[in-house]
Amino acid sequence: GEHKLALTPPMGWNSWNVWAAAVDQDKVKAAADELISSGLAAHGYSYINIDDTWEAGRDEKGNIQTNKKFPDMAALSGYIHQKGLRFGIYSSPGPKTCAGYTASYEHEEQDAASYAAWGVDYLKYDWCSYGTIAKDDRSLAAYMKPYQVMGAALNKVNRDILYSLCQYGMGDVWKWGADPSVGGSCWRTTGDILDNWSSLKSIIESQAGHEVYAGPGHWNDPDMLMVGVVGFGKTHPTHLKPNEQLLHISMWSLLAAPILIGCDMTKMDQFTLDLLANDETIDINQDPLGKPASRLVKDGNREVWARPLFDGTKAVGLVNLDNEPQKITVKWSDIGIKGAQSVRDLWLHKNLGTLKGSYTVEVPAHGCVLLKVKGVNKK
Ligand code: GLA
Repeated sequence: GEHKLALTPPMGWNSWNVWAAAVDQDKVKAAADELISSGLAAHGYSYINIDDTWEAGRDEKGNIQTNKKFPDMAALSGYIHQKGLRFGIYSSPGPKTCAGYTASYEHEEQDAASYAAWGVDYLKYDWCSYGTIAKDDRSLAAYMKPYQVMGAALNKVNRDILYSLCQYGMGDVWKWGADPSVGGSCWRTTGDILDNWSSLKSIIESQAGHEVYAGPGHWNDPDMLMVGVVGFGKTHPTHLKPNEQLLHISMWSLLAAPILIGCDMTKMDQFTLDLLANDETIDINQDPLGKPASRLVKDGNREVWARPLFDGTKAVGLVNLDNEPQKITVKWSDIGIKGAQSVRDLWLHKNLGTLKGSYTVEVPAHGCVLLKVKGVNKK
């Protein structure tokens, strides 16, 4: 409940977008191995999170069991910790998870104790079948209740477990996910990201305005990354085009979103690695001020998003949601700054010089130009 676990957005990997129900212990170990050997861990990625489908039933005492894909959760957790990484798991407040496996309803304290015993560092808690318990109660209290129950259970165990709420934004979760009675470190703001442009576009378009609710320790979560080899068990390279992937990563940086890689880590090509290992975009995502970007200009499909950074500079995204390339202008007055600005392109890794008044650039279709803008002191 004290929000000290995610002072910057969590970074890591989650099994769902690539493996869905095909996840198993060996695939999770391989992801952990690759997080290290690819160099991504050294860029700040640390969580290795198992999503749905690890669960079996309960033993005679009611303790949750793992199915045969995960023969020894404590040993797997040890394997991950021994590499200096952190270990995440998944459950639901209803009787069943979204994939129909045994979930935590009426066993919350027992499950929290099992997670702590296994060395779990992160819990994604997914609404799923809880609707069968809440019935048609759409009150705020009904939405909050299951998250309060597990939040209290997590507070009772002697282990810090990052608490990730997943209920797709119901009841404006961003307004109460960080309430001390819940203690969420992050909360999904949308339905599931899918492997296509219209999904990415609609997620981006729905985020404006949520920024005021996030900050150090509590983040909006527009869902996991869809770059690299993904496919929910039928693996293939993402259907998102290169510029769409660049926009995806740029927006997740601007939004201070959790960055949970969703791909087969053993099959990353150089483009995917360059997207994920760009320290200039990671620094925006992880900026310690923790203020997500606001959409300051919306001119049809042309948008300008900006966020203030701890060092007094700004990150600025020139976002083109159109199907054609578009010239986009950011005026310094639009983003609340004055005078000459030194401008750097964070994907080209290039200083664009000192610019007065504004910057205009042609942004590719479904693309983004991501800048860092710094006031130049007059002498
Ligand atoms: C929901 C969640 C997804 C994933 C699946 C697992 O759809 O939103 O992120 O966890 O459940 O079944």
